Amino acid sequence: MASYVVTGVSKGLGYGFLTVLSRDPSSTVIGIVRNKPATLQKISEDAELKDRSNIHILEGDMTEYATLKKAAAEAAEITGGKVDYLIANAGLVSLFDAYDPIGALGDRPEEVDQTLKTLYNVNVIGNVHLYHLFMPMILKGNAKKVVVISSGFADAEFTNKYDVEPGSLYASSKAAMNMITAKFSAQYKKDGVLFLSVCPGVVDVGHYKDATPAQMQNVGALMTKFLEYAPHFKGPDTPVQSAEAVKSVWENATFEKEGGDFLSHFGNKQWL
Ligand SMILES: NC(=O)c1ccc[n+]([C@@H]2O[C@H](COP(=O)([O-])OP(=O)(O)OC[C@H]3O[C@@H](n4cnc5c(N)ncnc54)[C@H](OP(=O)(O)O)[C@@H]3O)[C@@H](O)[C@H]2O)c1
Repeated sequence: MASYVVTGVSKGLGYGFLTVLSRDPSSTVIGIVRNKPATLQKISEDAELKDRSNIHILEGDMTEYATLKKAAAEAAEITGGKVDYLIANAGLVSLFDAYDPIGALGDRPEEVDQTLKTLYNVNVIGNVHLYHLFMPMILKGNAKKVVVISSGFADAEFTNKYDVEPGSLYASSKAAMNMITAKFSAQYKKDGVLFLSVCPGVVDVGHYKDATPAQMQNVGALMTKFLEYAPHFKGPDTPVQSAEAVKSVWENATFEKEGGDFLSHFGNKQWL
C-alpha cells in the first residue's frame, strides 16, 4: 500500500531502488528521470520489471524547477495527493575531482568553478526544491519519510582519520545536503516526518570504467585506505543489494530517534 517517489531511477542505484520497491505489487513506485522514453525502453526490455504495472515514470531535471514542479503535480494525480516515501537519490558524481587531492585542482580554476556550481545545482539546490515541492504530499502520507542518498565521503571524521583525499568537491555538496536535511528535520519532526541522510556504501555503477591507469592507481590507494578502515570490506555492492540495505535503514528509522541523522547502509556510522 506504500507510495514511493524516487529520483534518478534511470540507472545505477536508482534503478536498484525501482527494482526493489516495485517487488510488492501493492506499492506504487514513481520514478523521476531526465529521459523518460529511454527509461521506459529500458524497463520494457527488463524481464523482471516489464510487467510491473505499479511503476510510473515521470520526467524531471534536478536543475530545472519547473520540471520538478510538473513532476510533483503528476505524482499527486497518481497517488491522490499523498506520498509515503520521498527518496532523493538523483545525484551528480563528478569525475573532475574523483581521483586527485584538492590541491591538484588549483591550477584549473574554471573547472573548479563549473564543477562546484553544477554539483550544488544538482545535489543541493535541486533537492531543496524537491523537498519543498513534495512536502504537502509527505505530510498527508502515512509513513512520512524523506531520505536523501548521501555519501560517507561527507563525513569529516572519516576524512580526517584516514586522510581521504579524492572527491573533495562532490563530498562538500553531499555534506551541504546532509545539513539541509537536518534543518528540514528540525522543522518537520513535530509533524512526525523523518528526514534522513543515508550513505549507500560503495555501489558498482561503473563510475570508474573510463579511468586512466594513473587514475586507477589513485583508486587503488583509496581502496587500501578503505581496507585499513574496514578489513572486512569485500568490494562494491550491486545496486539491488545496496537498495535493499538502504531500505531497511529507513524502515528501522523513526523521526523521534534518527530524525536529521546521517547513517550508513548498516544503519550506523560505519561507512564500509
Ligand atoms: N555509487 C556509489 O558507490 C555511491 C556511493 C555513495 C553515494 N552515492 C550516491 O548515490 C546516488 C545515485 O548515484 P549512482 O551511484 O547510482 O550514480 P549514477 O549511476 O551516475 O546515477 C545517477 C542518477 O542521478 C541522475 N541525475 C544526475 N543528474 C541529474 C539531474 N540534473 N536531474 C535528474 N537526474 C539526474 C542520473 O540520471 P541520468 O541518467 O539522466 O544521468 C542517474 O539516474 C547519488 O546521489 C550518489 O551521490 C553513490
